[in-house]
Amino acid sequence: MNMAEARFLVSLHEPIVRIGSEGCPTPCPRVGRGLCGAARRAADMGSINETNSGPDRSGALLRMVGLRKSFGGLKVLDDFSLDIPEAKTTVIMGPSGCGKSVTLKHMVGLLKPDAGEIYFDGRRIDQLDENDLAPVRLQIGLLFQMSALFDSMTVAENIEFPLIEHTSMTRAQRAVKIAEALSRVDLAGAEKKLPSELSGGQRKRIALARAIVLRPRVVLYDEPTTGLDPIRADGINELILRLNRTLGVTNVVVTHDLVSAQKVADRVVVMLEGRIVADGTYAQVARHEDRRVQNFLAGRYVRDDDADERRLAEETRAAAARQEAQA
Ligand SMILES: Nc1ncnc2c1ncn2[C@@H]1O[C@H](COP(=O)(O)OP(=O)(O)OP(=O)(O)O)[C@@H](O)[C@H]1O
Ligand SMILES: [Mg+2]
Repeated sequence: MNMAEARFLVSLHEPIVRIGSEGCPTPCPRVGRGLCGAARRAADMGSINETNSGPDRSGALLRMVGLRKSFGGLKVLDDFSLDIPEAKTTVIMGPSGCGKSVTLKHMVGLLKPDAGEIYFDGRRIDQLDENDLAPVRLQIGLLFQMSALFDSMTVAENIEFPLIEHTSMTRAQRAVKIAEALSRVDLAGAEKKLPSELSGGQRKRIALARAIVLRPRVVLYDEPTTGLDPIRADGINELILRLNRTLGVTNVVVTHDLVSAQKVADRVVVMLEGRIVADGTYAQVARHEDRRVQNFLAGRYVRDDDADERRLAEETRAAAARQEAQA
């Protein structure tokens, strides 16, 4: 787990009012007993299980408008706009380094844009501080690119982490939720195992169980099938579909995996040079007029499409020209 991932999990650990403690008389819409501080603020905002009225009336659950983000001199998002509709599976594709993970991190407030606006459920969230972001984050599960499990904790403890941080459930209630989450990812009975005893596919499933244990409305998946064999990858695809069909979860899937995209996507968007350049069904995007999009969806390497290759070639040419001038 890297620092950003740890920060996301620990960011959930902000002032919590436990059941029965002073100032927490409100019944919890999730567990029916009490609210943690974050969930109480979410209920105050009217954003758990209710549609919020706010300045954005587009109907999109998540909305990013005109985002710009640079790291030093590197422009990653450049007038980036994307709407995520509720209860659908949106797949984000694009070449390595184009900014897919950066986009997901903006959706959960792990990164702030240099310019532009982000809305969740009609409410602007890009300017919220950590306290006010917490209730939004409760509604968004994130499956990190590298699973990000705590290696020294058992499977049960990993999944229990958000339950301890955000609910007032008793140990017995938490055990029920853990068993339920494990059964949703087809790993019933794995509570006592350590992450090191699991295969890559099983680790992804445990990370997914942790991402969904609080029953979020949105799940963001960063490369959920990378590194898995085709059968295990298909198992993850099935889980993504099942969450959408049985629980109505809004899925946002970042992937390079063409088979996976084809299987799970209601809609595919392709990112290039800091913005979305293609948007439609998989079949529509595969026929897109932009040759780079066509090549990407066909899994066809064309050197001219590769920005890093182009930059390297330009730098090499410039260096050769300098040497020639000196000679
Ligand atoms: N915190 C950061 N600080 C500096 N640069 C960053 C940071 N996060 C991302 N970048 C840079 O932004 C660019 C986009 O990164 P990102 O991780 O979003 O790529 P990606 O599209 O997810 O790639 P991949 O498919 O390889 O996962 C990269 O050049 C990366 O080095
Ligand atoms: Mg990435």
